[in-house]
Amino acid sequence: MSYKTDFLVIGSGIAGLSFALKAAEKGRVTLISKVDIEESNTKYAQGGVASVMYEPDSIEKHVEDTLKAGHGYCNEEVVRVVVSEGPARIRELVEMGVDFDRRQDGQFDLAREGGHTEHRVLHHKDNTGEAIESVLVKNAQAHPNIEIFENHFAIDILTQHHAGELVNRSRRDIDCYGAYVFDSSSGEVKTIVAKVTVMATGGIGNLYQTTTNPVIATGDGVAMVYRAKGLIENMEFIQFHPTSLYNPNERPSFLITEALRGFGGVLRDWSGREFMDKYHPMGSLAPRDIVARAIDNEMKVRGDDHVFLDCTHLDAEKLRSHFPNITRKCLDLGIDITSDRIPVIPAAHYMCGGIKVDLNGESSIRRLYALGEVSSTGLHGANRLASNSLIEALVFAERAFLHSSARLSSLQHMEGLPEWDFEGTSHPEELVLVTQNYKEVQAIMSNYVGIVRSDLRLNRALKRLVIIFNETEDLYRKSTLSRRLCELRNLINAGYLVIKMANDRHQSLGLHYNIDYPPETSSEF
Ligand code: FAD
Ligand code: SIN
Repeated sequence: MSYKTDFLVIGSGIAGLSFALKAAEKGRVTLISKVDIEESNTKYAQGGVASVMYEPDSIEKHVEDTLKAGHGYCNEEVVRVVVSEGPARIRELVEMGVDFDRRQDGQFDLAREGGHTEHRVLHHKDNTGEAIESVLVKNAQAHPNIEIFENHFAIDILTQHHAGELVNRSRRDIDCYGAYVFDSSSGEVKTIVAKVTVMATGGIGNLYQTTTNPVIATGDGVAMVYRAKGLIENMEFIQFHPTSLYNPNERPSFLITEALRGFGGVLRDWSGREFMDKYHPMGSLAPRDIVARAIDNEMKVRGDDHVFLDCTHLDAEKLRSHFPNITRKCLDLGIDITSDRIPVIPAAHYMCGGIKVDLNGESSIRRLYALGEVSSTGLHGANRLASNSLIEALVFAERAFLHSSARLSSLQHMEGLPEWDFEGTSHPEELVLVTQNYKEVQAIMSNYVGIVRSDLRLNRALKRLVIIFNETEDLYRKSTLSRRLCELRNLINAGYLVIKMANDRHQSLGLHYNIDYPPETSSEF
């Protein structure tokens, strides 16, 4: 079934929804989400949104902190754009109804997180993401120009390749005409033809056994664009959040926000010793890559399963009222955060690289924009500063909207694209072939391509992944479509890119730490 729209938006997190709401003022928007509309990384964001609000903070200080966290690998022009356009985007969210916490004097209550030298994180308790997502969803659902397809899975984007031309990675004139989209309920594949397509599919946390990301974060956008011969970059920079709740049988791992450390929480080992001071002058509030690596080191040296976050010295009432969800979650597991230390371990959290885009959010494939976590704008460099991703998504959604809507009237729908070909496929007889390979990919990535890497581990990972790749491609060719199989295929693709880019970088930098290339400066433990 073929279907025409002005803007096809793939993904319903902060990036997709904020673009859709703007684009809907200029044309017809089709928004697709692979499960229900609210399920996204956005919904689970805890800490908040970093943006300069009041003195003594300044644009210059936020720029400096971002550049420093990114180990000098950020694109400074992008950093300045995001930081200086951020406050206007915050005002839009507030006008739309997002209720950031305020102090008694009416000013926003700003939190501090790792790597920030000032209090600048706007938040709603410890469930900021949910507060933002629910407002955006409500507005999108009420908009007459936005058609929402839930439980619709984008399989591949449409390009000249589908019109019978040869498309290779060196071509700089590839166009995107929309996407093939699988309706998980009916089994039908829609050919959605669009003038503009926006990839807003989020991250890849499920490449790893332990992650804060919900199960939908399987690298679909990166894989689709890579298969379509678009440019992907910086995939080696996978951010592990230092503090997820240690609860081995829970997936995804529950996040213990960095804002708790900003509030005064400190990391301790099993003997009660505060250990971060020996790794960085900012102690427990050092940038995330350093804290995650320090915890990993402490756990390995001491043979411990986790470390602790200690908040027991903090004001109990304030702790409960600022962090109600963490308080409740821990209590459910018998941990009273006002009197017990919280067991924590690092977990895969954020993809700093992704689909390479320019200052308008446009990818190397024309008419295809990438926004939010799936994109690589140049903001994060080799390590993302905490709470800088929600603001990045908002700023780039506005820029992509301005750029794409200005050219909308000059764009035509591509005609004559073929419908999806189901020929020669049947239901796989054993779904264990999919689930086992999924687990193997996660084991390979966690054991060989995690927080600390080596050339030997990377090469071993690549060899193992190639076997799984061949098996899965074979299965994919023969099987009727299923979301699970497509996700496995995409994860393998994303894992390959992480390993390849890690292998190509003959140095340790930021989040990519390879023991065969010790960091150049001692501060880069
Ligand atoms: P997402 O919000 O992940 O949305 C992706 C969307 O794409 C989903 O709707 C999904 O269904 C859809 N999708 C994916 N693949 C397909 C497909 N093939 N077909 C159709 N639809 C598809 N950042 C901050 O700045 N501050 C924080 O405090 C913060 N806290 C965090 C806490 C947690 C636990 C996590 C996991 C992340 C946190 N982050 C935080 C990071 C931030 O939440 C994400 O980077 C951001 O929300 C990503 O938004 P997005 O719109 O790009 O993607
Ligand atoms: C957190 O609340 O610690 C997460 C913030 C982020 O990932 O930016």
